[in-house]
Amino acid sequence: MELTREEELALEGEEGEAAALAMKVLVNLGDLEGAGRMLPIGSAHVSGVSYLTAGGALLKLLEEFTRKGAKAKVPSSLNPAGMDLACWERMGIGPFFASKQSRIIELFSQMGIDTTCSCIPYELSGTVHPIRLGEHVAWGESNAVIYANSVVGARTNREGGISSLASAITGLTPEYGLHLDGGRLPTFEVEVRGNLSHLHFDLLGAYIGKNWNSVIAHLSGIKGRPDIIDLKHLGASLAAKGGHAMFHMEGVTPEHRMMERSRKEGIVRERLVIGPSELEAAQEDLYPAPQKEPDIYVLGCPQFGPAEFGRLHGAIKGRKLKEGKRIIVFTSKAVRSMLGSGVLNDIVGAGVEIYDDTCMVVTPLRDMGIGLVGTDSGKAAHYIPKMSKVETELLPMELMVERSMG
Ligand code: F3S
Repeated sequence: MELTREEELALEGEEGEAAALAMKVLVNLGDLEGAGRMLPIGSAHVSGVSYLTAGGALLKLLEEFTRKGAKAKVPSSLNPAGMDLACWERMGIGPFFASKQSRIIELFSQMGIDTTCSCIPYELSGTVHPIRLGEHVAWGESNAVIYANSVVGARTNREGGISSLASAITGLTPEYGLHLDGGRLPTFEVEVRGNLSHLHFDLLGAYIGKNWNSVIAHLSGIKGRPDIIDLKHLGASLAAKGGHAMFHMEGVTPEHRMMERSRKEGIVRERLVIGPSELEAAQEDLYPAPQKEPDIYVLGCPQFGPAEFGRLHGAIKGRKLKEGKRIIVFTSKAVRSMLGSGVLNDIVGAGVEIYDDTCMVVTPLRDMGIGLVGTDSGKAAHYIPKMSKVETELLPMELMVERSMG
């Protein structure tokens, strides 16, 4: 890679040991990916925060970085932790896990990283640095990456925990992949027929992702204007099942006209036509349903934003949870602060449990006594059985509410 004089000096330790280490990580990554130079970034979003997934190795690395004086150079935020940082006992988390997780957050905070612990930084412009069209950023967390690239038109590769942290410390990222125009061209075309429900967007993402890995899909024919919930869930499913980092949607996403160039240059390799009936037929294969009906339903993967709280509030219609039923919502303190207290009070009053700054996939569900869950998220239904060895049913949020509330 060609480095500027300033970058070379940082690599040699002029800006301290931590910055030199971070620079080394990024130079190695850039060399591996064939990047020509470093790009300055507007923000970093650091993933791999949960003690459940990252374990002692992360703790050791963070202790080392902070000892060497690491400080974030650009606005930086954190992905969800493995527990609600304030109410972990209520979640059923043990003190050992809680102390390790709290230490991880404390170390990130010492580096000047915002500890909101959210996987939807794109919805938190009030607390987290807002992103804009064409801006280069270095984000970890696959649902945030695909949303930033596709819906906002900011530019980021799928960063890992280490590279996103190194970018937070240096304010740089190597220029390759989705930072370049050529890396953002659609390679696959999907024509969608019929009307899609919210859950169909999860199934659509999962179906494409499972069968076509790491492509950039261009979707056309979608009726009406998908809302933020549909776009979040489509992206999260594409990313979870197929490792996708970007999609285009005709008339909706800001760079959808790139399809014209892809067609002209013969980059589009395949075309798929699909509708609700094919998606419903594929559901059993994508997410085999358990034999038993769950008593616990989890919502908020990606974490709940204001739109999802409004939808849940509308579905509850003043009812309360039946005996033995539980609905748990995962969100962040930052989202709570965006809501009117009336909506929150009604939802909590109905018996719904809400946890902040964490997520259903990176919490130890089995330790919390949970053995079978229902979720409305294709991404959660993909990961929960793998991560927590907990059986999962995929179903619409409205059906969960109907089954659980009387
Ligand atoms: Fe977010 Fe956790 Fe789902 S990080 S996208 S809630 S797996």
